[in-house]
Amino acid sequence: MSEPQAPIKTPRQLITAVILAFLVPVVVIALLVNFVASSPLKSPGSTAMTPEAIAERLRPIGTVALAEGGGSRALLAGDAVYKLACGACHDSGAAGAPKVGDIAAWASRLKQGYDTLVKHAVEGFRGMPPKGGNADLDPLEVARAVVFMANRSGASFKEPPAPAAKNE
Ligand code: HEC
Repeated sequence: MSEPQAPIKTPRQLITAVILAFLVPVVVIALLVNFVASSPLKSPGSTAMTPEAIAERLRPIGTVALAEGGGSRALLAGDAVYKLACGACHDSGAAGAPKVGDIAAWASRLKQGYDTLVKHAVEGFRGMPPKGGNADLDPLEVARAVVFMANRSGASFKEPPAPAAKNE
């Protein structure tokens, strides 16, 4: 029976093998450390890794833009405001709200006049919560909703004019 061929036969080969056994892991570790610690690769002229670009990519989806005092956002039309904030009660007459389209229920209220109705809608009136409970509605949006509701219930109010466009 012949011995299996050993790869190391001479003392010289043994020394080489021992040295390599130390050097190879050290080199590999050095390369790994270098790889982990180095800054991310950039293509020249790329702005992909600037703090602004990174923040932009990490930004949560959707941001809340709060309307400022002057109301710089686009104001909703009467029917949209109504659907959003008023229909819940005024569609069905919930909580004793006068139903839109119920001419009899609105007749005495309409006699108070446009200004009083808008005032009641904005500031609240008995069971009617201020702005229908949507504090961030613009008074003009509430007024538009009042016009929308009243005109379907026997009135013929004019839509309040939009505020003059501001220079931004
Ligand atoms: C939580 C239910 C509710 C919501 C939401 C609601 N209303 Fe009312 N509203 C009422 C009730 C109840 C009354 C009747 C109050 C009373 O006379 O006792 C009323 C009355 C009114 C009146 C008549 C006020 C008067 O002087 O007779 C107007 C105008 C009105 N609402 C407008 C609105 C508008 C505009 C919205 C949406 C922005 C809205 N309402 C949302 C419950 C609601």
